[in-house]
Amino acid sequence: MAAPRGEFTSRFGFLMAASGSAVGLGNIWGFPTNTASNGGAAFLIAYLVLTFALAYPALMAELIIGRHARSNAVAALKAIAPGRPSRLLAVFIGLMGILTVSFILSFYAIVSGWMIAFFFDPIARLLGMEGLAQWLVQDTAMRNSIFVIVFMLLTIFIISAGVKDGIEKWSSRLMPSLILILLLLILYVFTLPGAMDGLRAYLIPDFSRITDPKLLVDAMGQAFFSLSLGVGTMLVYGSYISKDENLPVVGSLVALLDVGIAVLAGLLILPAMYVALANGVEIFDASGGLIAGPGLIVSVLPALFNNMGAVGILVAAAFFVLMTIASLTSSISMLEVPVAYSVENHGAGRRTAALAIGSIITLISLLIVFNFDPLFDLVVNFTTERSQPLLSLFICIFVAWIWRRNDILEEIKQGCPQAEAGLFWKIWPFYVKFICPVAILVVYFQ
Ligand code: TRP
Repeated sequence: MAAPRGEFTSRFGFLMAASGSAVGLGNIWGFPTNTASNGGAAFLIAYLVLTFALAYPALMAELIIGRHARSNAVAALKAIAPGRPSRLLAVFIGLMGILTVSFILSFYAIVSGWMIAFFFDPIARLLGMEGLAQWLVQDTAMRNSIFVIVFMLLTIFIISAGVKDGIEKWSSRLMPSLILILLLLILYVFTLPGAMDGLRAYLIPDFSRITDPKLLVDAMGQAFFSLSLGVGTMLVYGSYISKDENLPVVGSLVALLDVGIAVLAGLLILPAMYVALANGVEIFDASGGLIAGPGLIVSVLPALFNNMGAVGILVAAAFFVLMTIASLTSSISMLEVPVAYSVENHGAGRRTAALAIGSIITLISLLIVFNFDPLFDLVVNFTTERSQPLLSLFICIFVAWIWRRNDILEEIKQGCPQAEAGLFWKIWPFYVKFICPVAILVVYFQ
């Protein structure tokens, strides 16, 4: 028999771990540039509405199943399936989730590796090691391989230590630091010329865009990726929540933290881009939109930091520590999915499982590094645009159509005895049953 299961020791611990999973590269560079290129605050409003109307219900579905079954995704979905066909479906969805999240981690680790390399760049320059600094910011397969391995070792190290001494301990340290660094950076950037133009680009809504299908599709994709839905991450974290905890409340806190930090990140990135513009750095691409994605993080912002003189070294280091923390608290939540499964369903030791599975994922990352052009976009698109929304859809269907309604209510009532009369129970079952599946399908076929 495997060792007894871990559990988060406090509400704070769970909130830091789950918001750590949610807050990642998606929030800090995906969200702000999505906002700027989709009509400013109009996108923000659509994103807020979709997060609370669609992603939050799906998040709750995962947390409730997880805490009910107290096990990894495969075993948990199986436990709530009443008959043989639905049990087979459960195993299939669970395993697809494990596979999907492993591939998400394989590309996420590459990008996270860049963040570590860019963190060492200002330090190398500070130490006068110009050659090393040059190498660190050059996109070579060698550099990428080394930093993928470094990043995966950090992830494996934390997951080996378990739920309480690994995930909870590190998330509780790293997430408050992330928020502090983010706030300090915002305050600093606000003092620079150009920042207010960025604020305007970010916050002045262009309401003519709000019914634009592209805006809605982007906002929904952002919401689901950002809350780490569909692949069992939140389900597994839910399985470590204490039975005394009020699930609707902690779930909404996680969604609020995720959205809150995304909004804050926008207050940093957009003003920083316009400060860069005021410094003569190009921030628009050929089609006139803001430069987004990797170009933003590995060229626009570093160019800005280089222009800042001595203080730029500090700002650059702080910014890339921020990115590394955001990545690491997300990557551990990804690796935990296959590790929990191997430990619980196959009796593996946690350390062995973390090391073995982490190594396999690292090998996949290296394969992508050495075949970047065909593979990178393929893996990103397949996992985040194809697999993740469909799996999320299946989880909603599982909860709403297959699981017994009374069992769901019983589970929520633990830690929230008045649940039956509350607003959550009046609205949520209808949402996961009808609205979420239909909305996901609509977006999927866009
Ligand atoms: N939510 C994280 C981000 O915004 C990434 C993430 C962590 C994730 N776990 C996940 C994405 C599981 C999809 C599935 O960057």
